[in-house]
Amino acid sequence: MEKHRHVAVVDFGSQYTQLIVRRVRELGFFAKLHAVEDFEDLGQPGAIILSGGPSSTREENAPDVDFERLQAYGVPVLGICYGMQLLNIKFGGQVEASDRREYGPADLTPEESGGLFEGVSGSSQVWMSHSDTVSELADGCSVIARNEHGTPVGLQWGSDCFGIQFHPEVTHSHEGLRILQNFLEMACGLQEFRIEDFKRALLEEIKRQVGDKQVVCGVSGGVDSTVLAVLLKEAGIHMRAIFVDHGLLRKDEGEEVRKNFQRMGVDIETVEASETFLGQLAGVADPEAKREIIGNLFIKVFWDSVGEADMLAQGTLYPDVIESASNAKTKASKIKTHHNRVEKILELQKQGKVLEPLAELFKDEVRELGLSLGIQADIVNRHPFPGPGLAVRCPGEVTPDRLRIIQECDAIFISVLRGNDWYDKVWQAYAALVPVRTVGVKGDERSYEFAVSLRAVVSEDAMTADWVELPYQILRDSSNQILNSVPGVNRVLYDVSTKPPASIEWE
Ligand code: XMP
Repeated sequence: MEKHRHVAVVDFGSQYTQLIVRRVRELGFFAKLHAVEDFEDLGQPGAIILSGGPSSTREENAPDVDFERLQAYGVPVLGICYGMQLLNIKFGGQVEASDRREYGPADLTPEESGGLFEGVSGSSQVWMSHSDTVSELADGCSVIARNEHGTPVGLQWGSDCFGIQFHPEVTHSHEGLRILQNFLEMACGLQEFRIEDFKRALLEEIKRQVGDKQVVCGVSGGVDSTVLAVLLKEAGIHMRAIFVDHGLLRKDEGEEVRKNFQRMGVDIETVEASETFLGQLAGVADPEAKREIIGNLFIKVFWDSVGEADMLAQGTLYPDVIESASNAKTKASKIKTHHNRVEKILELQKQGKVLEPLAELFKDEVRELGLSLGIQADIVNRHPFPGPGLAVRCPGEVTPDRLRIIQECDAIFISVLRGNDWYDKVWQAYAALVPVRTVGVKGDERSYEFAVSLRAVVSEDAMTADWVELPYQILRDSSNQILNSVPGVNRVLYDVSTKPPASIEWE
């Protein structure tokens, strides 16, 4: 069989659904998420995974799929949590509310080795999150695993239809990946996930969608927008890339961004708007007010320079696209920070004129795509940088002098990290201003100057973060250089706060 079938993940709204897609890709196969409303038309799947979800199959209007259609696809099916309960009902069994709500770890014991649990140990931690349970099995259904209370947590119907009550996609299910792999091995003709093939398909799709129209995109120097711009250029379409320099960038960053794009052969139009931004930020200390000003101004400056556009390209990534458990619908693509509330984009979106070529990719896949487009590793591996820039690292009022301090200190800290091969080991690192003046001694004189705080964190997804135990030497070198060369600073602190309760940025 030709290898072009994808793994269709049907979304019932679990908070983990996007992880299923991700895990399948990690196992080397192409997976796509489908809204449950699109179930009739999954294309040509090679395997179907029915996700978990917050609903109960006993509720009225619980999300449902057509059983005949499911069978007509004729491919292996794996129901996870809600998906398993739904399958059980479809095959003629019953589901009821459990007297024990199970959230968290449980112990999985396969009834026999082989099949879905091939190579899985006799007692393996899995992660539960459900309150319904299977109360009656259909004829011909076999229990293939139980938990420590003897409750069935793995079911099989026929040769290749399975249900599991736990979430194999989360890392707390220790052998979950193995279970997914066993399932995928039962499918035939699955398309491998290779970034090169994916890139080729993307380029074709962009050409097809755009035709001879003109596309505009905003670039910031960050990974997503850079990959987007290079991808559009590679597709050979008519494009304009616009870089709004809001003056809240890191030291020399504007110049660096221009040089990088030049090197990559992408023409960018720079809109120099520092004065406008700093002018409007003058005297504003409230964090939300600052964000609001920056966001609105960004939209205005961007669209003023665009004028009319046939199409807009955005670097929306997969996690931005997927909605979470709160509403079991997939495709309500969220617009990236800065852009929400902008009617123009909503209008373009309604007309199908917003292009989001990266919308099926996770961050690390975007990085891989960037490398395969020939973008240099140091650009692709840059730390994330917030849209409102250094304003969120400058509590209180943003002034040119405060920005200068942050820029200088940040540049020193980052260069010390790079020089010690620590830059790539941390998720994000920066200097923030602590807008408090304290007394110090410089030369023979007393000084009364600001403090700066250095922060380096590791994180997987920015939802949580931990501070990094940097070697003292790095802290010492950074502190010495800052205190010796940055006017206006007489104290350097290292931020040892986890997120939560702190956030990564200061505002
Ligand atoms: P926090 O401070 O919320 O940051 O822990 C989490 C991650 O998001 C980045 N960040 C932003 N990115 N616009 C952005 O594009 C923003 O307004 C914004 N605020 C925070 C932050 O740098 C970190 O990576």
